[in-house]
Amino acid sequence: MQTELKWAKEQQRRGEEHFRLLIENAQEIVLVLEADGIMRYKSPSIERVLGYRTQDLLRKSMFEFVAAYDLPKALTVFNEAIRQNGTTQFVEFRCRHKDGSWRVLQAWLKNLLQDRVVEGIIVNLRDVSQLKQAEEAVTKTADDLARSNQELEQFAYAASHDLQEPLRKIASYTQLLQQRYKGKFDAEADKFIGYIVDGAYRMQALIRDLLMYSRAGRGELALEPTDMEAVLAQALSNLETALQANQAAVTHDPLPMVMASPSQMTQILQNLVGNAIKYHGDAPPKVHVSALQKSGFWQFSIQDNGIGIDPQYADRVFIIFQRLHTKKEYAGTGIGLAICKKMVERHGGQVWLESEGEGKGTTFKFTLPAELVAAARPAEGP
Ligand SMILES: Nc1ncnc2c1ncn2[C@@H]1O[C@H](COP(=O)(O)OP(=O)(O)OP(=O)(O)O)[C@@H](O)[C@H]1O
Ligand SMILES: [Mg+2]
Repeated sequence: MQTELKWAKEQQRRGEEHFRLLIENAQEIVLVLEADGIMRYKSPSIERVLGYRTQDLLRKSMFEFVAAYDLPKALTVFNEAIRQNGTTQFVEFRCRHKDGSWRVLQAWLKNLLQDRVVEGIIVNLRDVSQLKQAEEAVTKTADDLARSNQELEQFAYAASHDLQEPLRKIASYTQLLQQRYKGKFDAEADKFIGYIVDGAYRMQALIRDLLMYSRAGRGELALEPTDMEAVLAQALSNLETALQANQAAVTHDPLPMVMASPSQMTQILQNLVGNAIKYHGDAPPKVHVSALQKSGFWQFSIQDNGIGIDPQYADRVFIIFQRLHTKKEYAGTGIGLAICKKMVERHGGQVWLESEGEGKGTTFKFTLPAELVAAARPAEGP
């Protein structure tokens, strides 16, 4: 009997030791508070997190260490915990470290005042200072980036807008010069004037594109129910001449309704299908447009049988004015894909290309968040 009692006591001692070690070695601080906030128990991790030794904190209230700014919030939550026996309350506040600096702590309070064993409020405290600092740094970087992007966009818009007027003058007067004085100077002069006229036209086209590009990112994005099949039909109608000239065949699978800007969707499909026709190989262009539902988004594909793209240029082609071909080979300024990227991203999606390389055709893919598709669906009847 004696040995059994001893054994049971030993077991109990071991059990208590086990839990004591668990709490003392936990990363979080565990406190047991009296109803007036006095810390009856504090786990040793408080020294690691806040610098205080447990013996420095005898009969101290937890709230002595809470930043004045956060005190009302912390007290409200504490009082709430006191009022509602057994519930768990959460609060985040800053706490003074022994060295005078501040730590951000998250606290979960559980009222066990009525519990005969605990008779207190158990508080779990987690130090999230580093997490908060990292979060703040990310937010600040994102804010800085957004601001600098906006400034850049503003600049591009103002520059391209204001450059149009003087350039219009240069273009029209050199053109006039060409018409009126052709053959009146020597042949070389005619050639030079021709270069100026060409240059002025080219610059006008570039500036017009730049303006279009910066407009694509400006203003409110008005989303409305948009039928992607109708969008494709509109894009094809805008491409009518190119379609016929190249004997292109465009096919498509059923396409969904989306919440989007119809004009931007038209522009996207027009640019992608337009490229698919323009960059064809020896065979007449065959283009297929399809849409696939994935988890969380819809994926649209525009597949062609054209000249293909070396995968090493897969990112470069989306940069404004970046082209893989000269103007002589294929006309264009290199704006189409940059505009697509901006418009797709404004809708919360992504755009990329897949190609096995030159001569193997290209598939452009872009996504739209599934919410944009779901929101556009008419409510189902009873
Ligand atoms: N479907 C495609 N197949 C092969 N190459 C392509 C295809 N689409 C785009 N490219 C390549 O990517 C480059 C960039 O395309 P983007 O549409 O931005 O400009 P662009 O067609 O040259 O000119 P713009 O669209 O301004 O008329 C093109 O110059 C071409 O080299
Ligand atoms: Mg293009």
